[in-house]
Amino acid sequence: MRKTTLSIALCGAVCVVAAAAVVTTTITPHAQSGMSGMQGMQGMGMQGMQGMGGMQGMGMSGMGMPMTGMAQMRAMGMSGMAGITGMSGGMGMGLPSLEGIGPITTRTKAPEGHPLDEVVSGFEYRTKDTQALELDDFLNPGFLWVEYGQQLWTTVDGTAGKSCASCHGDPASMKPVRPAMPKWNAKKNKPFAMEAWINECRTERMGAKPWKWESNEMLSATAFVGWQGRGEPVNIDLSAGNMKAWWEKGKEFYYTRFGQLNMACANCHEDNFGKYIRADRLSQGQSNGFPTYRLKWQGLGSLHRRFKGCMDQIRATPYKRGSDEFTALEVYVNWRGTGLSVETPAVRQ
Ligand code: HEC
Ligand code: HEC
Repeated sequence: MRKTTLSIALCGAVCVVAAAAVVTTTITPHAQSGMSGMQGMQGMGMQGMQGMGGMQGMGMSGMGMPMTGMAQMRAMGMSGMAGITGMSGGMGMGLPSLEGIGPITTRTKAPEGHPLDEVVSGFEYRTKDTQALELDDFLNPGFLWVEYGQQLWTTVDGTAGKSCASCHGDPASMKPVRPAMPKWNAKKNKPFAMEAWINECRTERMGAKPWKWESNEMLSATAFVGWQGRGEPVNIDLSAGNMKAWWEKGKEFYYTRFGQLNMACANCHEDNFGKYIRADRLSQGQSNGFPTYRLKWQGLGSLHRRFKGCMDQIRATPYKRGSDEFTALEVYVNWRGTGLSVETPAVRQ
C-alpha cells in the first residue's frame, strides 16, 4: 500500500479559509435583505462554500428542497462564522462537545468479544477544521437535511392521510431509535436498517410510495430521526430474534477479502487505522456518524453508500443499498462501534 503523509488536512484548512474569504467578499446588503429560500442561499455566495466542498447549492436546490427560516439564517451565518472557526483551527480543547448535548464519547473501551481494545470514532481521525464543522450546528451542512426531515415529519403523504407525527408524535420519542439500529423486525423475520423501517411505515401504514434509499427525502428523514439520538451511545440488541446469525454473517463479510485488490474491511479498518492511505487518514471505519455529510460528496450520504464506496476502492463489485449483505454488514459494523456517541449528522472529509 502506498503511504504518503500529504494530509488532506491541508486541503481542509486552506479550503475553509478560502471559503471564508470568498463569502465575505460576496455578501451584499442586497443578498442579505433579498433572501428567499434557495435563491437566498445561492445569492449568499454559496460559491464560497463550494471551495470547501460545502453546500454546492446543496444538490438541494435542484431537488426543490424547501428551506426553513433556520436554514436561511444558517446560510447567512455561514458568512461570518465560517471565518471564525476556520481560522481558529477549531476547538481543540478538552473533549469534543456538541451544542445542547455536551461532551460526546469518541473513544471508549471496546465491548466484550471485540477484536480491538478501544473503539474510536472517525471524528478523531479528521482535521480540526472538519471536526469544527461537525461540532457547530450552525456550520454543519448536514443540518440542512435535518431541517428538511423536520418538515417531512409533519407532512401528510399517502392514501391513509397520515404523517410520521400522526403515529410517532413528538420526534423526541425517537431518541432511542438510531443508537439501536439495525433493529430486529419480528414480522419480516430479519433486521431492518432505519431506511427499511421508514419505508415499511410509508408503504404499509401510510399508503405512500417508498423513498429511494439515497433520496433526499430518505436522507433527511434518517438524519432527522438519527439526530434525536445524537450523543446517545450506540447500543444494538443482538439478543432479539435471530440477530446473532446476522451479526455472524456481517462479521464474515468484514473479514472476507474482495475485489482486484483482494482486501477485506479489516485490512484497512482494523490492521491499519491511524495510518495514511494516499491522502486519507484511515479510521476504524465506524458508523456512528451516519448519515454523514462528506466534503467529498458535497452532500449527505447513507452508510450503505459508504460501504459501496469502500468496495469500489478495492475494485470489488458492491452490493446494493438495502441488500441483506449490507444490512448484515451494518449490524456488525454498528456493533463494532458500541458505546460511541451517535454523531448524526457527522462531518467527514
Ligand atoms: C400509521 C402509523 C405510522 C406512521 C404514519 C408512521 N409510522 Fe413509523 N412505525 C409505526 C409503528 C407501529 C412502528 C413499530 C413497528 C414494529 O415495531 O414492528 C413504526 C416504526 C418506525 C421506526 C422504527 C422504530 C424503532 O422503534 O426502532 C422508524 C424509524 C419509523 N417508524 C419512522 C417513521 C417515519 C420517518 C414516518 C414518516 C415517514 C413513520 N414512521 C410513519 C407506525 C407509523
Ligand atoms: C483499501 C482500504 C479500505 C478498505 C478495504 C475498506 N475501507 Fe472503509 N474507508 C477507507 C478510507 C480511506 C476511508 C475514509 C477515511 C476513514 O474514515 O477511514 C473509509 C471510510 C469508511 C467508513 C466511514 C468512517 C466514518 O467515520 O465516517 C466506514 C463506515 C467504512 N469505511 C467501512 C468499511 C467497510 C464495512 C469495509 C469493507 C466492506 C471497508 N470500509 C473497506 C478505506 C477502506
